[in-house]
Amino acid sequence: MTGITAFVEGWDFVQTLGEGAYGEVKLAVNTDTQEAVAVKIINLEKTASAAENVRKEVCVHNMLNHERVIKYYGSRKDKKIQYLFLEYASGGELFDRIEPDAGMPQIEANKFFKQLLAGVEYLHTKGVTHRDLKPENLLLDDFDNLKISDFGLATVFRYQGRERMLEKCCGTVPYVAPEVLSRQPYHAEPADIWSCAIILVAMLAGELPWDEPNYGCQEYCNWKDCKITLSPWNKVDNLALSLLRKLLVENPKKRYTIQQVKSHQWFNKNFNKQAKSPFSRMPSSSPSGSPCGTGPFKKVCSKNELSPKSTDSDLSRISCSQPEYNQHGYHGETTPTNTDDTNHIFSFSQPVHPDHMLLSSQFQGTPGSSQTPMQKLVRRMTRFFVKTDREETYEELDKVLQQLGYNWKKNSPGMVTVSTMDKRNVSLVFKACLMEMGENLLLDFRLSKGDGLEFKRHFIKIKNQMKQIVSKIPPAWPLVPSQIG
Ligand code: ADE
Repeated sequence: MTGITAFVEGWDFVQTLGEGAYGEVKLAVNTDTQEAVAVKIINLEKTASAAENVRKEVCVHNMLNHERVIKYYGSRKDKKIQYLFLEYASGGELFDRIEPDAGMPQIEANKFFKQLLAGVEYLHTKGVTHRDLKPENLLLDDFDNLKISDFGLATVFRYQGRERMLEKCCGTVPYVAPEVLSRQPYHAEPADIWSCAIILVAMLAGELPWDEPNYGCQEYCNWKDCKITLSPWNKVDNLALSLLRKLLVENPKKRYTIQQVKSHQWFNKNFNKQAKSPFSRMPSSSPSGSPCGTGPFKKVCSKNELSPKSTDSDLSRISCSQPEYNQHGYHGETTPTNTDDTNHIFSFSQPVHPDHMLLSSQFQGTPGSSQTPMQKLVRRMTRFFVKTDREETYEELDKVLQQLGYNWKKNSPGMVTVSTMDKRNVSLVFKACLMEMGENLLLDFRLSKGDGLEFKRHFIKIKNQMKQIVSKIPPAWPLVPSQIG
């Protein structure tokens, strides 16, 4: 971060919020006003197309202004680095509220799904498609309200009332619609709606239904054959399942539109009086009497549920391509606004128990305003405080990674990169980083590449194995994090 200090004088770069193929997103706090912004840092020399991709991302993002969309404040360029100043979402990623294999209570999934659809509906009215909707790209604000982020793959599909079909095969395979993989031109809106449905499955069941939506994938065939007594469908109640049946429809013309979703019973259901178990299979109350639409559940005939799994790791992020522009000449870059326009102010107040923040995505915390900025930072599930000092923590981490058979390396002081294959045989890379938080040490795990839910399963395994050194005692607040160098 040393290279940008002079350029963004008056801002402290407090914490890495995320990383991706483009570079990093850091939290920057204004030294005078305590304003917090997220800064996406892009190395324009990383790839030949990086500069053009950023230009397009800025152009699309700058068209947008909605409460369900992360705000774009402005951009700065300093030699070969471009900085995009974005609204900071202190609640982290929606992804971190999904408990692997369990999901989250329906009442929360319903709230997030409604907010997601409101955001996607807005994008579509502006003629913009996101093309990479997934829980990692959905952020939460102080009050746990959802905001769509990362417009790196977004594009304009309607301009001056004229829609163009898309052809680019891009997105994240388990979330993409079948027509996107078909290599035929496809309509933008139904493809985004399909991704919203996969996100809903992830929220309700804590797992993704298939590796990819094609006939080489047994799980997808099972869904098409209405074999829904299997996981994840057996974790989803009938009413939600009946909505999913209307959404995960292969033919995009027959797939529910956002308008239709908004009239579905599950969408409009009042969950306030319901038990919060994500596992309860309610008596069927779907409009058609069955999640399959017209008939009763089909029984699974074959015991052989083992299926040929996709191993094409290169496809997990199909394309890093960026927004294209239509033939009607949409390409003018709008002038970025000054970053001084930012008005996101930190608020300080009482701490909560860190274990509640770290261990359970089911935890219903007091709304964000009751947490300090640093408490919000530690809300991510994939981190824990340790009782040990630096050296002991590394020794223990080394030992556990070795015991669990991981391939790992220390790439910089304080940082360990672990590379493995997930259960679908897709490459998974994550980093473990030891951070000093005042008196306390926080071991932070972050996904670099691969499936987020799989990453969490690995995290849980490692954490369980390290349980002797995991601290259950709330650290002293307030805390100031700094990565150990
Ligand atoms: N991670 C990536 N972008 C972010 C943002 N705008 N706010 C918080 N965390 C983020």
